Amino acid sequence: MFDRLAGRYDLFNHFTSFGLAGRWRALALGPLRAGMRVLDLGCGTGDLCLGAARRVGVSGEVVGLDFSEAMLAVARRRLEKERPVARVSFVREKAESLPIEEDPYDMVVSAFVLRNLYENTRPILSGVLRSLKEGGGVSFVDMTEPENAWWRFCWRAYMNSVPALYGRALFGKDYPSSYITDSAKRFLRAAKFAKLLEEMGFKNVRVRSFMGGMVSLYQAVK
Ligand SMILES: C[S@@+](CC[C@H](N)C(=O)[O-])C[C@H]1O[C@@H](n2cnc3c(N)ncnc32)[C@H](O)[C@@H]1O
Repeated sequence: MFDRLAGRYDLFNHFTSFGLAGRWRALALGPLRAGMRVLDLGCGTGDLCLGAARRVGVSGEVVGLDFSEAMLAVARRRLEKERPVARVSFVREKAESLPIEEDPYDMVVSAFVLRNLYENTRPILSGVLRSLKEGGGVSFVDMTEPENAWWRFCWRAYMNSVPALYGRALFGKDYPSSYITDSAKRFLRAAKFAKLLEEMGFKNVRVRSFMGGMVSLYQAVK
């Protein structure tokens, strides 16, 4: 599915979020500092990676991991165009099989990926923990189904109209019309995901939710 969407994914993302997706990604990059080594889990077309590269600077390094070759191809083209000063590389790999790092990461970040991984959340979080330095952190942003019934109604009404329209215009029959709402519904609600992070051994777990809980930012430390 992601291979089929890659070519117009950025356009779809930008229009359906009214440009807000970029703002939420920027919030996820808040804890990044110069010189950090960062993993972007499910990097897609590389937006978060390139933002991370600007923040970690010349002494930093960013690795983007994704299982979709077509998404990575777009990310590589963007990298070639932008040529950030930080070292940036992309690996085609499943989030489920994070390699054991000889040089562990300072931060693992991800944007709009978690809910796609709902079946394997625990093993993936274990892999993330293994890949991090002691004191390293995670910063994840994703859509969630709002807790409040009214916000939930608004969210579903919006998702089933505007993105559905753009989706069909941009991707034709390839647009998976109910995928966004279904994946958000299957995924844990924000408070439960925060609890899971604590159960898995993360410390200082913080959650910030936006737009009635349609989008949540999770930050925690190993
Ligand atoms: C909605 S896109 C988000 C892309 C990007 N992070 C962004 O901010 O736009 C989800 C991405 O996660 C990737 N993905 C989904 N499941 C994955 C898995 N199990 N392992 C690796 N990548 C995965 C998809 O290929 C896709 O690029």
